[in-house]
Amino acid sequence: MVTRRSVLGAALATTGAGLVTSAALTPVFSAREAAGAEHDGTAPAAIAAPPVEPFRVALPIPPVLTPVSTAGGQDTYAITMRPARKEIFRGLQTEVLTYNGAFPGPTIKARSGRPVVIRHLNGLTMPASVHLHGASVPADSDGDPMDTFAPGKSRTYTYPNKQPHASLWLHDHAHHMESEHVYRGLSASYLLTDDVEQRLGLPSGAYDIPIALRDAHFDGNGALVHIMDDVLGRNTILANGKPQPYVAVAARKYRFRLLNSSNMRFFRLRLADGGPITQIGSDGGLLPRPHPTDALMLSPAERIDVVIDFARYPVGTKLVLENTLGPGTPEQVGQVLRFDVVRKESDPSTVPSQLRTLPALPAVTGERAIELRMDEDGREGAQGYVNGKIYDPNRIDVTVRHGSSEIWTVTNPNKQAPHNFHMHLVQFRVLERNGQQPDGSESGLKDTVRLLPGETVKVQATFNTYRGTYVYHCHMLDHSAMGMMAQMKIT
Ligand code: C2O
Ligand code: CU
Ligand code: CU
Repeated sequence: MVTRRSVLGAALATTGAGLVTSAALTPVFSAREAAGAEHDGTAPAAIAAPPVEPFRVALPIPPVLTPVSTAGGQDTYAITMRPARKEIFRGLQTEVLTYNGAFPGPTIKARSGRPVVIRHLNGLTMPASVHLHGASVPADSDGDPMDTFAPGKSRTYTYPNKQPHASLWLHDHAHHMESEHVYRGLSASYLLTDDVEQRLGLPSGAYDIPIALRDAHFDGNGALVHIMDDVLGRNTILANGKPQPYVAVAARKYRFRLLNSSNMRFFRLRLADGGPITQIGSDGGLLPRPHPTDALMLSPAERIDVVIDFARYPVGTKLVLENTLGPGTPEQVGQVLRFDVVRKESDPSTVPSQLRTLPALPAVTGERAIELRMDEDGREGAQGYVNGKIYDPNRIDVTVRHGSSEIWTVTNPNKQAPHNFHMHLVQFRVLERNGQQPDGSESGLKDTVRLLPGETVKVQATFNTYRGTYVYHCHMLDHSAMGMMAQMKIT
């Protein structure tokens, strides 16, 4: 059930007056609401997650998955989806859903030009579909929401990896279940590399760390609580599956691959000292040039690769990575993790001033207008719409000629609800945000782009790979489950 209150809660809020905020964000969220004073019965008012002692556990690094075979010019993996129990809070066991027992799932490492085959066994009690977010794959391996496989059954997905390097994301996509499945843990990093990236001398190996950030709602026993559109309840932030971990670092450069694997939450991240961060990549791999910044905006499913140089800090420095967006108070959601500078170390890595050359934008062959909107008037059974329609798997919403390159102008007319726009199959370019050229953070290849209330974004997508039917949708998964999803057929 979606109520007025929960729709309001879906809008972004800043976590506190003293924190850095963006003028575009709507602070609809009062402290009284945050405390649950207007509790409506669908989301528990008393948010009583077990206590966390901040910065007492190390950031876990997900295991790298080992292929079961490397024969035939491809890497073959076997994954079993199954429930597992994990210690998220000290001394408590939390039941989660996993790929091969890992929470978040194991990292898959791939190389452009070398196919990966993953055979999944569904050890869950519900149907599953596995999607490789950001990847260019044939439709029968895309993990379409309707293309599910039942408990006890297996399904093999083939990823040709005929695309440049990128930090991709493997997650569940079974329609009406993806929200809960991803929330409970069916999420894994898939890091695709290539020679262009390898040549650069960026921080690598132990100095290249994937960090999946997400929120979650826990009860007092540490059990995960899943309620649709529960924006107020999900106010524990997890980094690689742990609340408020520390990351012991040497005083040198590190690369962090940030992924927002939340269903609904937007993050705005900064270092507590306001120190510089070098963004080097986005969804579809490296930016053309590094983008120096002091804040990172990350909507659900977006990825940002950054380099932070800890050489400027004396050994002993403890530096919190802060989140300055609500919902939730700064105490609940403001301190994501802490970097502890523990030793000196030499640093052979570099961040070149040119990272890659993006292919020139082809001539535009067509334009379309896309509107993402949800009911936010407080009605019962609120739904989400793309161009006024809720998702219908039997309807093709747009037909695209293979080989075409189109500008899609995407708008969010909502007053309070943010959205974002994700297309399967393609990496697009962001041409404009609200009529302006986007800043460097959006200068690379993207597959997901944020749309705060009232925003308009123009993207250009080129359909020169596979033919078939693919979805596009808001990646706030509770919104896509409410209907904010549509289909394109590339013919
Ligand atoms: Cu993360 Cu439909 O995708
Ligand atoms: Cu996707
Ligand atoms: Cu949305």
